[in-house]
Amino acid sequence: MDTSKLMFRDGLMKDERILITGGGTGLGKEMAEGFLKLGAEVHICGRRGGVCEETAKELMDRHGGKVVPHACDIRVAEAITDMNDEIWAKHGPLTGLMNNAAGNFISRTEDLSIRGFDAISNIVFRGSFYMTHDIGKRWIDQKHKGNVCSILTTWVWNGGPFVVPSAMSKAAVNTMTQSLAVEWGRYGLRFNAIAPGPFPTKGAWARLSPDSGESSMERGVANPMDRVGEMHELVNLAVLLMAPGCEYINGQTIAIDGAMYNASGGNFSALAAWSDEQWAAARDAIEGANAEDKAKRTV
Ligand code: HXC
Ligand code: NAP
Repeated sequence: MDTSKLMFRDGLMKDERILITGGGTGLGKEMAEGFLKLGAEVHICGRRGGVCEETAKELMDRHGGKVVPHACDIRVAEAITDMNDEIWAKHGPLTGLMNNAAGNFISRTEDLSIRGFDAISNIVFRGSFYMTHDIGKRWIDQKHKGNVCSILTTWVWNGGPFVVPSAMSKAAVNTMTQSLAVEWGRYGLRFNAIAPGPFPTKGAWARLSPDSGESSMERGVANPMDRVGEMHELVNLAVLLMAPGCEYINGQTIAIDGAMYNASGGNFSALAAWSDEQWAAARDAIEGANAEDKAKRTV
C-alpha cells in the first residue's frame, strides 16, 4: 500500500493494541500496515505461522514499531484463549479486534459436501464468534473499553449465489455486529463492520476467480466506477472505525464497493452460465491453491 495515501495524522493510533485475524496476508496485512504506520501495536494471527512471522518482520523493517505474529487457528476455541492469555500477559489488554480471517471458494451448492460447508462456516461463522466472545468477556470483566470490526461482504444484504456457506456465515456475523452493539454498548464496547467490494488479493482471487485472466470477480458484474478497490481506500475506512475520534459509529456495516452492490448486486449470479467443464476446472484450480497454502500451516 502507498502509505502516503493514509488520510490520518501520525500517532493517531498510538494508544491502540489491535489484533487482526488473518493479518499475515491480503487485506489483513494491508490494515496491519496502516495501523502500524499510525502508531498502533499490531497483533496478527493465522494458521501459517511462518507467513505471519514474515509479514511482521517485513512491516517492522519498513515502518518500525511493533507487530507480533501468532500461529492460531480460530476454529479452535482453546487456541484462541491461549493466544489471548499470552497477549494479555506479555503485552497488555487489546483495545481492538479486527475479525478479518475467512475461508471461501466458489462452488455450485449442489456440489458441496458437508465438509465443504463446514470448512468455510467453521472459520467465518464460528471462528469470528469464538474470538469476539473470548475478547469481549475479558473487556467486560476488566471494565476495559473495546472495539470490534468485522470484514464482511455486501452479500449480507442480498445473498451470495455460488458462495452460500460464506454468504450465510457473513450474514450471521452481520447479525452479531448489530446485536452486540446494542447488548454490549453499556460496557463501552463497539461493533461495526466493513463490506468491501472487489479488492484483488492472492487468497481471494485463487478461490473466487480461479480462471484468472478474465476474472469472474469482475466479469458480468458492472461496477459504476469501472475499477476494483485500492488498498488505501479500505485501510482509511478501517482506521476511521478502529481509531479514536468517531466512537459514536456503532452497529453499522459500511460498504466500500464503488456502488457495485447497488448497480448489479455485487455477487456471483453470472456464474449460472458456467458449464460443467468450467466448474470442474475451477475446482481443480481451487483445490491446488488450497493444498499449496495448507502445506505451510503450522497449526
Ligand atoms: C467444492 C471444495 C472445493 C471446491 C474444497 N472443497 N474446495 N468443494 N468445490 N472448489 C471441499 C473439499 O473437497 C473438502 O470436502 C472440504 O472442502 C474441505 O477441504 P479442505 O481443503 O480440507 O479444507 P480446509 O483445510 O479446512 O481449508 C479451508 C478452505 C481453504 C476454506 C477450503 O480454502 C482455506 O483455508 N481458505 C482460507 C483463505 C481463503 O479462503 N481466502 C479467501 C477469502 S475471500 P470433502 O468432502 O471432499 O472432504 C472471501 C470473500 C471475498 O472470503 C468476497 C469478494 C467480494
Ligand atoms: P486472504 O489473504 O486469503 O485472507 C484470509 C486470511 O484468513 C488468511 O491470512 C488466512 O491465514 C486467514 N485464516 C483463514 N482461516 C483461518 C483460521 N482458521 N484461523 C486463523 N486464520 C485463518 O484473503 P483476503 O481477500 O485478504 O480476505 C480477507 C477478508 O476480506 C476476508 O474476511 C474476506 O471474506 C474479506 N473480503 C475480501 C474481499 C476481496 O475482494 N479481497 C472482498 C470482500 C470481503 P491462514 O491460511 O494462514 O490461516
